[in-house]
Amino acid sequence: MSIPVLTIDGPGGAGKGTVSRAVAKKLGWNYLDSGSIYRSLAIALQKQGINLANEFDIVKVAQAMDLEFDCGEEFSVKLNGTDITDQLALESTGNIASIIAALPEVRRVLVQKQKAFKQMPGLVADGRDMGTVIFPEAEIKVFLTASAAKRAARRYKQLIEKGIDANLCTIINEIEERDRRDMERKIAPLVMASDAFYIDSSEMTINSVIEEVLNLIH
Ligand code: DC
Repeated sequence: MSIPVLTIDGPGGAGKGTVSRAVAKKLGWNYLDSGSIYRSLAIALQKQGINLANEFDIVKVAQAMDLEFDCGEEFSVKLNGTDITDQLALESTGNIASIIAALPEVRRVLVQKQKAFKQMPGLVADGRDMGTVIFPEAEIKVFLTASAAKRAARRYKQLIEKGIDANLCTIINEIEERDRRDMERKIAPLVMASDAFYIDSSEMTINSVIEEVLNLIH
């Protein structure tokens, strides 16, 4: 029997993570946060002091990286045995992840780590190229987006609520810069799969997005 896959692609901050986790939980399916794999590599490179211009060494670290995901109640990730969950969400980690994700050989090395998540009873995969490159065979594909201004406002609110000082203009600039890099790279750029459902969450609550995705499945 084939293993069902639901892919949710889109730019950062559109709510993919929250929606994917909720849908996977509801269905009892596995969950792949593919961005966290690129983020983990970014952390490994920082720990080892690797220069981001040195593609050869970056690929070596990607090949040697041992990642353990716990996608239960509390999502956590161990890199070579050390818990790195707290560092994953940092803005600096996301920016480095976006830079190294443009390297073709890095993407090639990380393909199998992502495909390994496809297991019974099903998979919800979130990222940029889940429906176009990693799981083109997926039964249901969603492209979830929101305006850069809305995404920045949500991010700003999260940071302020955590007591972290933030500047809305800086966040908008960073979001636009990351969008541009993810969409313009030569390999596996962020594009909507031709057979994906388009959802713009700018004016939607997260619960209504979750409901819409569950309706697509049913
Ligand atoms: O979804 P995220 O913010 O955790 O992703 C961080 C970066 O990783 C993103 O800016 C680009 C890269 N990425 C990618 O290239 N392909 C994916 N499938 C997921 C993330």
